[in-house]
Amino acid sequence: MSLKNREIHLARRPDGLPKPDDFRLVETEVPDIADGQVLIRQLYMSVDPAMRPRLTVGYELDQVMAGGALGRVERSKNPDFAEGDLVRNQLGFREYAVSDGRGLSKLAPEPGIPLTAYMSVLGGTGFTAYGGLLEIGGLKDGEQVFVSTAAGAVGSVAAQIAKIKGCYVIGSTGSAEKAAWLRDEAGLDAVINYKETPIRQGLKAAAPKGVDVYFDNVGGDHLDAALASMNTLGRVAVCGMISGYNNPGARTPVYNLSNIIYGRMNLRGFVATDFMHLRPQFETDMRQWLREGKIKWRETVLDGIAEAPHAMVGLMQGENIGKMLVKLSEEEVPA
Ligand SMILES: NC(=O)c1ccc[n+]([C@@H]2O[C@H](COP(=O)([O-])OP(=O)(O)OC[C@H]3O[C@@H](n4cnc5c(N)ncnc54)[C@H](OP(=O)(O)O)[C@@H]3O)[C@@H](O)[C@H]2O)c1
Repeated sequence: MSLKNREIHLARRPDGLPKPDDFRLVETEVPDIADGQVLIRQLYMSVDPAMRPRLTVGYELDQVMAGGALGRVERSKNPDFAEGDLVRNQLGFREYAVSDGRGLSKLAPEPGIPLTAYMSVLGGTGFTAYGGLLEIGGLKDGEQVFVSTAAGAVGSVAAQIAKIKGCYVIGSTGSAEKAAWLRDEAGLDAVINYKETPIRQGLKAAAPKGVDVYFDNVGGDHLDAALASMNTLGRVAVCGMISGYNNPGARTPVYNLSNIIYGRMNLRGFVATDFMHLRPQFETDMRQWLREGKIKWRETVLDGIAEAPHAMVGLMQGENIGKMLVKLSEEEVPA
């Protein structure tokens, strides 16, 4: 009997905030694999803010969307992969994927670590926070740090690494529930709910000693607020600008850029591949921090491929705490 696959296609380019019916759930048949190929049953897929600009320019209409995923090799005609191997891949938004092996990387999970951690705190998300803060932001122990979207996947890790380094850490977020988690669980020193207090006013009050390092996930009004609070020789590590992602060209207006002159600041955008040399140290440090309970992490896991459009829309509306994932198959997580 042939195997059924369900996948998500982009049905229409969103205008502003995406809507669930911008996407289409399509049923297909899983093809037989040819020599050199593997069949992957996806377990989890990642939903990322960077996908939003690609809905406007990048993803093709009426085609399955790509994205980070973790799956298990179900059948293999490729000598490099055995049935049962766990593989990280970029073939998300589908339940089954056929691959010739390119772009797959094997994962050897450790006892006691849930598989989802490899897609969040121990994966690219955690690594982005680590390198962005320490290398791009040039963080020094004891500095004043501001992290926007601090209860999100990247932000929550960046904020807690800054705490581990003895910094005074201010986070911004968009709900009372997230603010409470950041204060009570993640241990931030000050939290601004930007939906209750204008971010500029909130940051001025929360940062009496100014800001030495701003880890920017938002752009726009948050970047403006940070630029108005930065100390001399401050650094802005520009990770993302989600406040603009629903706009054409992902534009997000910033008005205070001239402050970088008087403050002799450094603003630098980055992607995680800029600091791959840090990966081994990241793996060592993060495992130790997790063992010591110094980093808390959250995930928001929606169930089933049909929920993937809702995950995308919800991410842009702040419905997630920590990493937004979709569970694609019922397999239990080995501990
Ligand atoms: N440079 C890189 O290599 C790299 C890699 C990964 C991610 N990123 C960037 O890092 C940022 C965070 O990504 P993530 O994966 O960790 O996502 P995330 O923070 O877990 O989720 C997105 C969050 O953004 C917030 N948000 C949405 N619209 C907003 C707006 N208009 N203003 C302020 N906040 C808004 C929401 O939280 P609130 O409740 O706080 O509003 C939402 O939960 C994004 O900008 C992303 O593009 C960059």
